[in-house]
Amino acid sequence: MQSQCTWTCCQMLGCLSFKPSTLFAFSKHLRSTSSDRLWTRGCSLRVANYPSFMATLSTVSTEKDAVSSQNDSAQKPQPPLQVAKRLEKFKTTIFTQMSSLAIKHGAINLGQGFPNFDGPEFVKEAAIQAIKDGKNQYARGYGVPELNSTIASRFKKDTGLVVDPEKEITVTSGCTEAIAATILGLINPGDEVILFAPFYDSYEATLSMAGAKIRCITLRPPDFAVPINELKSAITENTRAILLNTPHNPTGKMFTREELNTIASLCIENDVLVFADEVYDKLAFEMEHISMASLPGMYERTVTMNSLGKTFSLTGWKIGWAIAPPHLTWGLRQAHAFLTFATSTPMQWAAATALNAPDSYYIELKRDYMAKKEILVEGLKAVGFKVFPSSGTYFVVVDHTPFGLDNDIAFCEYLIKEVGVVAIPTSVFYLNPEEGKNLIRFTFCKDEETLRTAVERMKEKLRRG
Ligand SMILES: Cc1ncc(COP(=O)(O)O)c(C=O)c1O
Repeated sequence: MQSQCTWTCCQMLGCLSFKPSTLFAFSKHLRSTSSDRLWTRGCSLRVANYPSFMATLSTVSTEKDAVSSQNDSAQKPQPPLQVAKRLEKFKTTIFTQMSSLAIKHGAINLGQGFPNFDGPEFVKEAAIQAIKDGKNQYARGYGVPELNSTIASRFKKDTGLVVDPEKEITVTSGCTEAIAATILGLINPGDEVILFAPFYDSYEATLSMAGAKIRCITLRPPDFAVPINELKSAITENTRAILLNTPHNPTGKMFTREELNTIASLCIENDVLVFADEVYDKLAFEMEHISMASLPGMYERTVTMNSLGKTFSLTGWKIGWAIAPPHLTWGLRQAHAFLTFATSTPMQWAAATALNAPDSYYIELKRDYMAKKEILVEGLKAVGFKVFPSSGTYFVVVDHTPFGLDNDIAFCEYLIKEVGVVAIPTSVFYLNPEEGKNLIRFTFCKDEETLRTAVERMKEKLRRG
């Protein structure tokens, strides 16, 4: 019953009532005209007609999809794709597209940020035990009590803030749902929300679903510092919130204390909320992670969003949470109640076990990731990229222009097809794709051998233009 409701709700939000086979029928038409020129055509269209290029790109499917769908589509005409206006500019996410291309070309996937190694045994065992113990029915909407209190203890340890697990913590289906519940529960149509570009792709889509007006501030290389004057002039009487992400995907930037203090005083002065996405808080390598909520006067106007996936290499579990004072929790829980109502019960029990991990777990996690980062960063420098410093997350952004290709999409195409390595073009993280055309993102959340092999492939096949 509940899952039926959730599905209906998703359909209403996006009118996404097509089958994969319908998508394929569309893609088949495009492919039959210019399958081999797909990327080239897309690149030349990128600036003038970027969305249509993304539609073309989103036609990539696996061989298995192709066979069954060809049979389906040969038999009956397919109705045109339908999508509500608020979502029509968004196509299949770049991560799905790149992962599909990686499979198609047998390329090493340093694109999408999911580890190619498994999460810890003690957490997996806890999930198995919870299932065996019959913890399998709907959980309490805002979280299994044990998980809410464990999140509160961890937040106290990390930030010194004491929060009420019953009134100030909401467990969600990953940080993605925490973002959606926060935006849909607290933003009215026409409200202005400030984003820092490049930004994680769900922000723009979810703000669009809420009818918000986006104001974008661009963080520029080499240090991706916040342009404070631009930020000041972007704040108007209609500004409702600033959405920030630290450590930051895709750049690896960590907002400095000075930047956070300035943003905090602007928010207090102008009565603006902060939505802080801190999913990479435990992957802070070069400096200490600072939670916006911990700054003086900020807890009462901040929603802190996080999840289990990155810290425990369990991105498929989708257990997340939002921490906020009761007056903000009220709105986000209203949205959460009708988006998913509750998230997986046994995984919540296991998440509580995970978050009780000893300090040694986090120390080892950082040590492992620093070794991986070293392999990738040094490798990319040796290949000839201009590598920008990454202080946190498991991403690093580089300038690809020494290799002479026009833009990030053309470069990523070349990298997949000719070199056998996948990276993410960063133009998809900007409102104006032009701003990201020189940059691509690699991830180092892969085992060391995979990283070394990818570097070797690039050393062997990439030539500076
Ligand atoms: C900045 C950022 N926020 C949120 C998410 C989504 O987190 P989750 O998988 O917990 O929904 C990601 C995933 O890549 C991310 O990079």
